[in-house]
Amino acid sequence: MTEHRPHTAPHDYLPAAGRDAFLPGYDLLTRLMGMGPVYDALIEQAELTDGARVLEIGSGTGNVTVRAKRMHPGAELVGLDPDPRALARAQRKARGLTGIRFERGYSQELPFADAEFDRALSSMMLHHLDEQTKKTTAAEILRVLRPGGSLHILDIGGHMTAADGFMARRMLHGDHVAGNLGDAIPRLLTEAGFDCTETASRRHRFVGRLTFYRATRPA
Ligand SMILES: C[S@@+](CC[C@H](N)C(=O)[O-])C[C@H]1O[C@@H](n2cnc3c(N)ncnc32)[C@H](O)[C@@H]1O
Repeated sequence: MTEHRPHTAPHDYLPAAGRDAFLPGYDLLTRLMGMGPVYDALIEQAELTDGARVLEIGSGTGNVTVRAKRMHPGAELVGLDPDPRALARAQRKARGLTGIRFERGYSQELPFADAEFDRALSSMMLHHLDEQTKKTTAAEILRVLRPGGSLHILDIGGHMTAADGFMARRMLHGDHVAGNLGDAIPRLLTEAGFDCTETASRRHRFVGRLTFYRATRPA
């Protein structure tokens, strides 16, 4: 399913830290990378309100889903990920919170009804998918969002150049994030039927460039 799948990994998805063995270090790594404020910016962009039904695709260890719940206790959060190890960690973090749950599943086959959500979030996830899976994922998110609902994306890529530093230069020469570069994400989402805009982009020391997008399902 994913062109980036390490041949040593027995999965049909690319896990959060690339390999199962690295998963226990994932949260520490994201903290050291200064991701907390970046996650907050994504959640703020989504403008969650009380009662909003919110889906995070590729929720991993729950960094964003749990954070969104703490920032907006009145919202209903669902995190979806195919990795049972990551889901177990997310469920531990959410212990004691209500109106939040984690489910096993794939973004390209969302186990939800049409128009079930007001918001969808995708944080550092799209670069884990191959091109065909991204297209199916975009169509699935459009389906499960209500008309007027919106998808909020944070990912590596956008208009990354060699001037963004050493990591950017490495990524520009690899294929890992190639499908996220330039206007690839707005093009993908526009072709799926969203109204999509890039909302912010910032250089990031560890991943070259992080870019934010808002994609709205037309009302
Ligand atoms: C880098 S992690 C990001 C986790 C979390 N969103 C965050 O920002 O901390 C990417 C996640 O995408 C998940 N993933 C990979 N392929 C997927 C798919 N087809 N559908 C849903 N999630 C997927 C991985 O299991 C992993 O947990």
